[in-house]
Amino acid sequence: MSNEDASVTSAIDTVRSDVPKHIAIIMDGNGRWAKARGLPRASGHERGVEALRRTVEGAADIGIRYLTVYSFSTENWRRPVSEVNALFGLLKLFIQKDLSRLKREGVKIRVIGRREGLPKDISELVDKAEFETAENDTFFLNIAFNYGGREEITRAVKRLAADVGSGVHTSSDVTEDLVASYLDTAGMPDP
Ligand code: FPP
Repeated sequence: MSNEDASVTSAIDTVRSDVPKHIAIIMDGNGRWAKARGLPRASGHERGVEALRRTVEGAADIGIRYLTVYSFSTENWRRPVSEVNALFGLLKLFIQKDLSRLKREGVKIRVIGRREGLPKDISELVDKAEFETAENDTFFLNIAFNYGGREEITRAVKRLAADVGSGVHTSSDVTEDLVASYLDTAGMPDP
């Protein structure tokens, strides 16, 4: 092994002993990637999903345990219907094609964001992916789909307020930790 190879290896070892627990990635730039190559935007999204597959593998390989990908935001509904449908189709295809492998590899899938408003077939598939991987604990893949930060907080506050109303908590129990336990990311380290 040359000196150069040795220094690369030791750099990787250093990273491995000190990797973040949780990485979050915004799936952005698909359209620009496609445009720069004279391809339709849909091709950019397809390649984005391939990049996601490689990212899950790579993250798990270097010891990261939690990966959150922000894919479809609540604002993305403003895109042309054809693009929205293509994005739904890609999520569907990803779950259909990859679920059994991810399940076998110990990946726990959680889809965070607003479930209401998603087409029935997508929400059933998402439920299935979560149900079938619920017992896994090797790697945690969170897919933010129909996700908005304020929307998540609003849902959390509604549920918390209902629990205060029904006496599960009192208003003086409300701390940052209690609020965090109502978020979609409850129980996970911060990205
Ligand atoms: C940003 O690219 C990407 C999105 C808005 C959608 C990403 C979502 C998917 C590819 C489908 C989800 C599927 C899975 C498996 C999670 P952009 O169009 O905003 O790119 P631009 O900023 O270059 O225009």
